[in-house]
Amino acid sequence: MKKRLFHSVALLLALTLTACNNIDNDTKAISQQAENSSEAKSGEYAKIGSGAHLVKFPKDLHKGILYTTFDRGNIHENIYINSKEAIEAVQNGEEFPSDTVITLEGYEDGEIAQYLVMEKRTGWGSEYSPKERNGEWEYQAFTPNKEVRKDNIGRCFSCHAGAALEQYIHSLAAIKNYDLGKVSESNNSSTTDSIASIPTKDWKVSDISAHLNDSNSKDVNTKKASLLDDKEKAEVIEDVLLTIYLHQYQN
Ligand code: HEC
Repeated sequence: MKKRLFHSVALLLALTLTACNNIDNDTKAISQQAENSSEAKSGEYAKIGSGAHLVKFPKDLHKGILYTTFDRGNIHENIYINSKEAIEAVQNGEEFPSDTVITLEGYEDGEIAQYLVMEKRTGWGSEYSPKERNGEWEYQAFTPNKEVRKDNIGRCFSCHAGAALEQYIHSLAAIKNYDLGKVSESNNSSTTDSIASIPTKDWKVSDISAHLNDSNSKDVNTKKASLLDDKEKAEVIEDVLLTIYLHQYQN
């Protein structure tokens, strides 16, 4: 069984890499077309990701709401959102309000490895091509020292565009299902009781998992093992791509 799983993962990887090549070629073909087209005015739109500097490292990150976690092998992700109002908006079927900040805190072998931040503000993204922009979201990557990490921010846009129907948030379902009762409870007591405010910096991955509510955690590897229908294929390919992406910055 294990062997079969390994084979399917290897096959998937091969397929994914082929798919990437094709995408690259397609993109080249498309940009060639755009260059040849008389309608394409150069400099009409800002380069995608050029507004990344607008996104600062989120102050008080751990005072935000830790709404979900993911595990990808030796990578553990804590995902925070900065306001209860943003969760309420989504649960009421509305869009994220301006000033929403979502942060993925990525650990590798228990050590903080990176912070990936998305922030939405009214009017952001309007200088980008409508085909490339992700609504009003901007992205930025930070090192463990909370300094801006040199990165190809365009890739954040293209991968998150896959979640365009979920307001560009891959983990939107977890926000929709988040029990806000938990937040009011912790707000009523001292902030030191809130799980979101516990400094997890020095925790080992296993400690973190042990302290989280299971229903709120998604183990991506288990998911891969049960993947077998077509419906989940796209999601799994995305998972593999993200895992590769996160591993590039291995310390
Ligand atoms: C290859 C695809 C891919 C790329 C590239 C990518 N992401 Fe993501 N991102 C995901 C997926 C999928 C998730 C959901 C978490 C998971 O599955 O581990 C996610 C989650 C996030 C989250 C938490 C909110 C959410 O959407 O669930 C933030 C914030 C984030 N990414 C920021 C970034 C930033 C910033 C970059 C670029 C520096 C980036 N991402 C690049 C696929 C990608």
